[in-house]
Amino acid sequence: MKANRSIWPVCAGLLALVFMSCMNTGKSKSIPVRKQPFNRDWQFCSGDTAGVSWHKLNLPHDWSIEGEFNKDHPATFSGGALPGGIGYYKKEFNVPSGYAGKQVYIEFDGVYMNSEVYLNGKLLGRRPNGYIGFEYNLTPYLNVGAGNTLTVKVDNSQQPNSRWYSGSGIYRNVWLTVTGKVHVKHWGTYVTTPKVSKDQSDVHAEVEVINNRAEDRKGVVRTIVLFKGEKVSEKEQTVTLKAGNTHLVTDDHTVKNPQLWSVETPALYTLETEIYVDDRLVDRHRTPFGIRSFDFDTDKGFILNGRQLKIRGVCNHHDLGALGTAVNTRALERQLEILRGMGVNAIRTAHNPPAPELLELCDKMGFLVMDEVFDMWEKGKSRYDYSLYWDEWHRQDLIDFIKRDRNHPSVFIWSIGNEIPEQWEERGAETGRELSKIVRRLDDTRPVTAGMNPPIHTNNKDVTLQFDEPATPNALAGSGALDLIGYNYAHRTYLQHQINFPETPFIATETTSALATRGYYDQRSDTVKRWPYRWDQLFLDGNPDNTVSAYDQVSAPWGSTHEETWKIIKKHDFLSGMFIWTGFDYLGEPTPYVWPSRSSYFGVIDLAGFPKDAYYMYKSEWTDETVLHIFPHWNWEPGREVDIWAYYNNADEVELYLNGRSLGKRSKKGDDLHVMWRVPFNPGTLKAVSRKDGRDVLVKEIKTAGTAAQIQLEADRNTISADSKDLSFVTVSIADTTGNFVPTATNRIEFEISGPGKIVGVDNGDPTSHESFKAKNRKAFYGKCLVIVQSAGTAGEIQLTAKSKGLKPQKLVINTTRNRNEKD
Ligand code: GAL
Repeated sequence: MKANRSIWPVCAGLLALVFMSCMNTGKSKSIPVRKQPFNRDWQFCSGDTAGVSWHKLNLPHDWSIEGEFNKDHPATFSGGALPGGIGYYKKEFNVPSGYAGKQVYIEFDGVYMNSEVYLNGKLLGRRPNGYIGFEYNLTPYLNVGAGNTLTVKVDNSQQPNSRWYSGSGIYRNVWLTVTGKVHVKHWGTYVTTPKVSKDQSDVHAEVEVINNRAEDRKGVVRTIVLFKGEKVSEKEQTVTLKAGNTHLVTDDHTVKNPQLWSVETPALYTLETEIYVDDRLVDRHRTPFGIRSFDFDTDKGFILNGRQLKIRGVCNHHDLGALGTAVNTRALERQLEILRGMGVNAIRTAHNPPAPELLELCDKMGFLVMDEVFDMWEKGKSRYDYSLYWDEWHRQDLIDFIKRDRNHPSVFIWSIGNEIPEQWEERGAETGRELSKIVRRLDDTRPVTAGMNPPIHTNNKDVTLQFDEPATPNALAGSGALDLIGYNYAHRTYLQHQINFPETPFIATETTSALATRGYYDQRSDTVKRWPYRWDQLFLDGNPDNTVSAYDQVSAPWGSTHEETWKIIKKHDFLSGMFIWTGFDYLGEPTPYVWPSRSSYFGVIDLAGFPKDAYYMYKSEWTDETVLHIFPHWNWEPGREVDIWAYYNNADEVELYLNGRSLGKRSKKGDDLHVMWRVPFNPGTLKAVSRKDGRDVLVKEIKTAGTAAQIQLEADRNTISADSKDLSFVTVSIADTTGNFVPTATNRIEFEISGPGKIVGVDNGDPTSHESFKAKNRKAFYGKCLVIVQSAGTAGEIQLTAKSKGLKPQKLVINTTRNRNEKD
């Protein structure tokens, strides 16, 4: 095969790998990087044009997000109303002859779904599960010194197979691992910290070393504990590595005065494993880990490093709004930053294994993770879902999931399932025991739970009341399979937990399901609505334009408003914490509505990443930052009675003024989480002042805006890395001539871009919009929209211009700088 110029960077990299390793003699420390991204220069064609019109792209890639919304797509509005189908990926690459004798593996972090991978026409494997990572050994079929073709077929044509938007394609990263014949196995390390104290901690390392040679070899396996690059402890042992065998090597280290991993100070250590054969370093493998202790107590709740900590979590699906599911580290990091701003300290990966990058970020940024593996077992929830593959695949998928994720210090709970249909049957108890046994065999340092509805296991009416009727005993909850009893909703049964399960601690695996459209408000705010009326009936009421009031006054009937659940969790120590459904809006599941809605209303933050008002309730409760947030806006019809809410903290009271006249002071009483004034609208300035001991703490003003006159642009980062991956999220706001935000503006904004960057997504958080996420324009929704800019590979100045008829345009410069260490 002819060498293809586009693949030369890979070939050059591989040559360098081989060359460097040939030069390694003696106990040399130099060794090539074993695992490299393999995302560049793939070709793609959709099933409709199979083999005909390939186009070039870089991974990760989600083809569904590029499609058009249509109610007839088989995914349905519940799955985001975007197309599925079949897609083919192809990558051609040359392997230099010096490459002989190496082991070459390809790793996919996730392909949605039903992937088949071929190397040079030979099938390497099939994998139905769209969220699991997997590796294939390329070595037996690799043309060394010649061209190779890797082909991947992805089949997401059988739908619905998901209750939310899944995305389609090779939507996570792909890696190429090149090693010698003796090396650390894939997911072959396991680091635990059996004894943790501030003075001294024990670190136990298990390493699986494989010898793929035809003869036995003596090897030296060295494990080194590093902190910030400095050696803390080192152990070495000589082992006989039998031909064709895998050997488990264990070492015990002691770390004096360890820096403990916590949500405030997420200190990371590294276990470095070196393998020497014939005095030559043949493999070096790194495993980041953390030293921390935690416990769930039936009375005290969650304890991290000896200190009680309320778990303030959110559930999130894996889509990244306008970017679809194509994983992007910066997009994930931005989500976590926004969540951190609200005081979130934990994430539940609803309801599937997450991208590895999410766990890496959580390790680094200090988020706890409830890592969840399945949304269903044997009994399906949608026609073509994973239940079809359960019998053949669940063991392997579960094993791979635990082995992949068990070294992350952020991971602190394993969830083996969400609202499993067989939870009320003996079969559910049996499967629960089977799964938790597998988990504990691979990792017994974290509790196992499942999200259940509701998790009671007796017929005692005192403890089984869920809504207004007794609930059915839950076989899974009573099975003994779980270390933590996971409540999905059922907040009215929380206080019976200690009677129901005196010996098993509590976790609210999923809570709330409050609903809101950012920027939209129904008067009056103090009537609570439960929409839809029932989970099993079509909802035909609501607002004609499919909006939901953003006062915290609407929730699904199985859930609660934001305030209702938090008030209970806050009060009782034994309630270890909660995971709100959801942190961010996601594509699909537009409860309470159906089409034309196509994305959720559950998020505390909308799909574009703009906080809804409830964000500030949590911020006032979950952070030490001083908060004063008043809403709604101040653009109403004259005389209309409007409820004004304030969320505040670190103050005794708030006084509200309209055009300089006091409307009175309010302070939270009892367990109140907000204060309210009911005010007839008069244009002008609303001013709120929070005070403590008579002194002003914060002042907030909202002014009646005039007509839309100008565009304002604000980038979350004005300098990004010139690596073809990094992103700048630019918030577009519409303002009047004096710069006041216009909260009702719907102007269409056109974007132009020049310089080393491109627009990769636009959004406005409207769950009913059918505009393309990939367009170069977007209508504002309640005054705002978002444009996402991605860097190219060269450093320079990106100029972004936003224009709209009748509005003053705006320009923004984003600088991109070259990060010399970037690969791929
Ligand atoms: C739960 C379910 C979630 C989501 C949520 C919406 O019952 O676990 O996946 O559907 O309801 O309220």
